[in-house]
Amino acid sequence: MRDWREAWQAALYGPGGFFARGEQPSAHFRTAPVIGRELAEALVELLGRVDTALDHPAALDFVDVGAGGGELAQAVRESAGGDLGRRLRVTAVELAPARPTEGVRWRRDLPERVVGLLVGHEWLDAVPCRVATVHNGLLLPVLVDTQGNEAPSGSLTEAEGDWLARWWPLAGEGARAEVGSTRDAVWATAVAGVAAGAALAVDYGHLAADRAAGRFPDGTLTGYLAGRQVAPLPDGSRDLTAHVALDACAEAVGTGADTVLVAQHAALAALGMSGGSPAAALAATDPLAWLAASARAGRIAELRARDGLGRFGWLLHATGGVRATDLLPSLPAWQP
Ligand SMILES: C[S@@+](CC[C@H](N)C(=O)[O-])C[C@H]1O[C@@H](n2cnc3c(N)ncnc32)[C@H](O)[C@@H]1O
Repeated sequence: MRDWREAWQAALYGPGGFFARGEQPSAHFRTAPVIGRELAEALVELLGRVDTALDHPAALDFVDVGAGGGELAQAVRESAGGDLGRRLRVTAVELAPARPTEGVRWRRDLPERVVGLLVGHEWLDAVPCRVATVHNGLLLPVLVDTQGNEAPSGSLTEAEGDWLARWWPLAGEGARAEVGSTRDAVWATAVAGVAAGAALAVDYGHLAADRAAGRFPDGTLTGYLAGRQVAPLPDGSRDLTAHVALDACAEAVGTGADTVLVAQHAALAALGMSGGSPAAALAATDPLAWLAASARAGRIAELRARDGLGRFGWLLHATGGVRATDLLPSLPAWQP
């Protein structure tokens, strides 16, 4: 048996692991980049605002961390036109085998210096964590084997104990939680690499008040396989994922960036993706245009659904003299 973080890491990224062997996320769960181009178009609008705030640098980066099959990076590449498109450098950062795509540079590690927009779309939920539980009144890490048998054993580090006390206090025998300090660390590192511009994490997650209120007594770790939610066995057969404590990630970045945490449905509307069905009269004059506009409205509605993807959090940090309100106007705080 080994602790959940090691088991999760090996199951996804170790030799023969789920992502390491090239399983495509889109074959197992539906994410916004595979719905259509609308998320990419919204991000190109955001990138345009970053470009304006930076006074149009000679080279403008779009970096997609945890790029999966590269759908988002490719769609951003194709959606960005004009002068911005000519100055744009698109990079996909991915541990899994690269999917070479025209105009997109692939790499396994973060670029050293980003001027532009770095995005982690459903990246942080795939970053492994330790799992902790209350056992005989003590807070212990949970060990697991590849069949999913578990045992609480060993000890948490002081930093992990502090993280739980601050962000996810566990009360009651058997209560368990994912220790999000690993996500905080990778996110803070990614944001630190943005010399000027913005970094955006888009993910499903939870907030401290809900965690402390015991809304997730068993934690949120789960598995996905071929479109179905399945038990989280760390045997390499399936994706493993858990909600992201986006408020903790926000604080880990510190005060060097100007930060907002808002809901996807509101952020997309602020970037011009408000949807709305086409006028009925168009169906008579141009039926194909009406069909295309209706399909687009349906995709935007899916991205903005408040009981679905619209509930995702957008954690946006502006850096290098850029203000978050230059990029997204004042929006209500995220309430997942
Ligand atoms: C849930 S998938 C999301 C894929 C894509 N962004 C999307 O939304 O469809 C997470 C991806 O992050 C990648 N990943 C996880 N940790 C990574 C890291 N440290 N560097 C690069 N890629 C990573 C995984 O290999 C996987 O492809």
